[in-house]
Amino acid sequence: MRRPRLLDLFCGAGGAAMGYHRAGFDVVGVDIKPQPRFPFEFHQADAMTFPLEGYDAIHASPPCQAYSAAWALHKRVHPRLVEAVRGRLLATGLPFVIENVERSPLRREPGLDGLHGIRLCGTAFGMTVVVRGQEYELRRHRLFESNVFLADLSCNHRLPVIGIYGHGESKPMRGKRGYQISTAEVRREIMGMPWANRDEIAEAIPPAYTEWIGKQLIEQLRAAA
Ligand SMILES: C[S@@+](CC[C@H](N)C(=O)[O-])C[C@H]1O[C@@H](n2cnc3c(N)ncnc32)[C@H](O)[C@@H]1O
Repeated sequence: MRRPRLLDLFCGAGGAAMGYHRAGFDVVGVDIKPQPRFPFEFHQADAMTFPLEGYDAIHASPPCQAYSAAWALHKRVHPRLVEAVRGRLLATGLPFVIENVERSPLRREPGLDGLHGIRLCGTAFGMTVVVRGQEYELRRHRLFESNVFLADLSCNHRLPVIGIYGHGESKPMRGKRGYQISTAEVRREIMGMPWANRDEIAEAIPPAYTEWIGKQLIEQLRAAA
């Protein structure tokens, strides 16, 4: 049986793409910047105009900076693309998933209008890392909105948190909620992205999240076939 094809818009270095690949999709990525480490077929292009025909499903991770508290502090202006992306994907009639941060305007629960949202957390997948004898957990809450129903998973918060954000110099910082260890090695291990660099991982979602979603998409595609 042919592997279904998934278009990954705003693909970055391929955190989301790898999860869909593991779930059983052939993935094609699109990003406006070169992504030399993206592990699948890649097109450098604007996701807002890239043709959407020829795929079985579409994922989009528009930039989150416009909705993020940290970036608001810098008073930098970033495009708010979620609504425009949702409109484009709805028009295709294909199954789609849009991912973004908690402060974005994505759905976070099942809706009567056919759009559903779930929130995923690294603790639901048991994602932990040991640094200098201390175990830390990944939370990295992300919303996933879809026009197909997706099963949710609950958080299981129990350990100090490790933060995977920020670019620039590696600077371990002890905070109230845990420890931010920014080394590339720690990021690769806890996020499950051994092919990506430190800054790419800061923008990525863990493949575990989209593997969970991708398996559900594939089941629904098979059921509809
Ligand atoms: C949050 S990151 C995506 C991370 C990716 N989903 C992952 O899991 O690794 C957003 C990406 O959108 C890209 N981007 C921003 N504007 C874009 C546009 N108009 N078209 C295509 N890509 C764009 C950025 O270069 C960045 O790589």
